[in-house]
Amino acid sequence: MPQQETTQLKHIIYSSRPVGFEEKTVEQILSSSRKNNPSVEVTGLLIYSADLYLQLLEGPTNAVEKTFNKIKNDARHDNVQILKESSTDRRIFASWTMRPQDLKLMMWDEDDINNGLVENLSPSQAFNVFNNLSREFDQFIYVHEAEWSESQRSKEGIDRSP
Ligand SMILES: Cc1cc2nc3c(=O)[nH]c(=O)nc-3n(C[C@H](O)[C@H](O)[C@H](O)COP(=O)(O)O)c2cc1C
Repeated sequence: MPQQETTQLKHIIYSSRPVGFEEKTVEQILSSSRKNNPSVEVTGLLIYSADLYLQLLEGPTNAVEKTFNKIKNDARHDNVQILKESSTDRRIFASWTMRPQDLKLMMWDEDDINNGLVENLSPSQAFNVFNNLSREFDQFIYVHEAEWSESQRSKEGIDRSP
């Protein structure tokens, strides 16, 4: 991703219901995302389960709209509902072409999901689901990067003082 974003950014969050979900479906979707998203500078996160997709797409306005229009017509899901669509000044998953997140690892009750909890999220609640995931992840990376840099410096005897 470019260090400095020059174009207007937009994000779309939508939910949908998988049709004919199999183990390999997510791998296939991620493989298309890895092939297509980098060239149009789209990033994001896809929460998945056999019963639900919840995806955040972010990037230049045109690219996000084109990608979403393609996804919307995909026969592997239906009941596509936009929960949030707006311009934004920053990405929250800048280093991911499309980060996968298994719904099982989130503390959501299956009955709530089946009763439409996700479809009824307000735009800001929907955004917070993703923002919280991105924050948890930043903390994890931070710890590991800090430890890693420290170990490299002491191994190589690098003096970082100016
Ligand atoms: C839930 C879901 C999420 C998807 N996310 C993306 C995506 O982020 N990027 C993408 O290119 N295709 C995504 N797809 C796949 C597209 O609908 C479409 O199949 C694919 O982009 C076609 O790629 P191709 O024209 O290179 O064959 C997704 C499909 C589903 C069902």
